[in-house]
Amino acid sequence: MTSFDRSIKIAPSILSADFANFGQEIRAIEAQGADWVHVDVMDGHFVPNLTFGPPLVKAIRPHIKTVMDVHLMISPVDPYIDAFAEAGADVISAHLEAGPHIHRTLQAIRGAGCKAGLAINPGSGLDDVEYLLDMIDLVCVMTVNPGFGGQKFIHSQIDKVKTLRAMIGDRPIHIEIDGGITPETAPLMAAAGADVLVAGSAVFKGGSVENPAPYGANIRAIRAAAEAAR
Ligand code: DX5
Ligand code: ZN
Repeated sequence: MTSFDRSIKIAPSILSADFANFGQEIRAIEAQGADWVHVDVMDGHFVPNLTFGPPLVKAIRPHIKTVMDVHLMISPVDPYIDAFAEAGADVISAHLEAGPHIHRTLQAIRGAGCKAGLAINPGSGLDDVEYLLDMIDLVCVMTVNPGFGGQKFIHSQIDKVKTLRAMIGDRPIHIEIDGGITPETAPLMAAAGADVLVAGSAVFKGGSVENPAPYGANIRAIRAAAEAAR
């Protein structure tokens, strides 16, 4: 990963890509301007949906030239951290709600050589984040309940991001937003203090590996709206 900065970064979620063509889809979104690639891992237990595990993450790693941002929606997390680190994750985010020992989990992620991300559900407050601030590189504020792409943005999270931005101060911690990001919602979060914007359906809509230009137009529209709100 490059050095820390708060510029707007667009992180397409491959949850909305063609699952039979991950390699080509990743090369297409990076060629069209993606800054990071967001990889959603779901276990059918912590969230009501299943996606894929470490072997798939390892298989797509060589196709990613930017940052592989792995969002673990799984419980328990700890038994799988080394496998995702060995698969080549740059950032691993675990959920605050995934178990009783998030502090241990975050230690293990950094111990495995990855940047540590803390993901928080829409229903969770920031009180439990305070004592974790010095051991994380990113907070992922969920703006939908995790489990599915294409859901509606939850506006109550705007105030959460403003409060979080103040809590972070000048620490080098990214604020990532995940769920329902479009050119309409991205500016709300950029203004509140977010810098990494995950978008699945809003990036992939209208395009394909044969016709990737819409991916670029979608990424540029989200970025322009967010930057204008800064
Ligand atoms: C939701 C996932 C998101 C999702 C975002 O559980 O964590 O990353 O793919 O998809 P959109 O942008 O369609 O809401
Ligand atoms: Zn995600």
